[in-house]
Amino acid sequence: MAIIEIDHVSKAYEVEGEESTDALKNVSIDIKEGEFVCIVGPSGCGKSTLLEIVAGLLNQTGGEVRVDGKPVKGTSREIGVVFQDAALYPWRTIRRNIGLGLELSKAPKEKQKEQVEKYMELTGLSDFADKYPSQLSGGMKQRAGIARALVMDPRVILMDEPFSALDYLTRCKLQEELMAIREKEKKTILFVTHDINEAVYLADRVILLSPRPSVVQKEYVIKNNSATRDRRDSTLMKIAAEISADISRGASTDEYIEYII
Ligand SMILES: Nc1ncnc2c1ncn2[C@@H]1O[C@H](COP(=O)(O)OP(=O)(O)O)[C@@H](O)[C@H]1O
Ligand SMILES: [Mg+2]
Repeated sequence: MAIIEIDHVSKAYEVEGEESTDALKNVSIDIKEGEFVCIVGPSGCGKSTLLEIVAGLLNQTGGEVRVDGKPVKGTSREIGVVFQDAALYPWRTIRRNIGLGLELSKAPKEKQKEQVEKYMELTGLSDFADKYPSQLSGGMKQRAGIARALVMDPRVILMDEPFSALDYLTRCKLQEELMAIREKEKKTILFVTHDINEAVYLADRVILLSPRPSVVQKEYVIKNNSATRDRRDSTLMKIAAEISADISRGASTDEYIEYII
């Protein structure tokens, strides 16, 4: 069964004194437990809108999103979110930023400490625990954003262009770390990016959204036999080229292609 069901979701933004903007139109996507799905599409097509709806941060104007069979109504512990800007509190140390959710949940103190230490270690932040966000590089801040989501042990992690503001080498490093974390933690991940190479490197399935009002334009399933991927793999490059071509030519909707690398 799908853990995330995006069922004919539409979103029209109402702006006073203007015509409403249709951002999403009948978007349906099912995501299986443990799957890593990347959403790509031109800027302004509605990727962030879709993610915010799944996160329970924004209401759709049509359709429904279900997580584990239950309609999403507001934010929940089952769903962790990582944004492009890690959105850390500047007055809290990294340890206390990562632990904030647990603090609010009033989990037992010992358990809180254990969880926070575990995820700081997993994301390579242990040595930065007592630093403040302003003392960290962009990559380190994003690691903290990821740790903050993981620490609550959600079943689903939603990520909105989490690496887009990072330089190329840091981005590659974080992509690799995310793959390793995913392998270890077995999370279901829905990841939005406008970087097609990033999408094909990370995803089990890439979903291309059309320009606004967005519909699912095409899906690319990437099956691989080994646990790790080579970013220079010729099939991955071919898929990336195909997605780029589909974006410029505007391929027909609801096509589905499978590749094995
Ligand atoms: N709060 C808002 N009010 C009105 N229009 C909005 C609002 N947020 C986003 N939009 C519009 O909805 C469309 C989709 O935006 P967004 O989801 O941010 O796209 P993406 O993340 O793919 O770049 C854009 O045309 C954007 O201008
Ligand atoms: Mg966006």
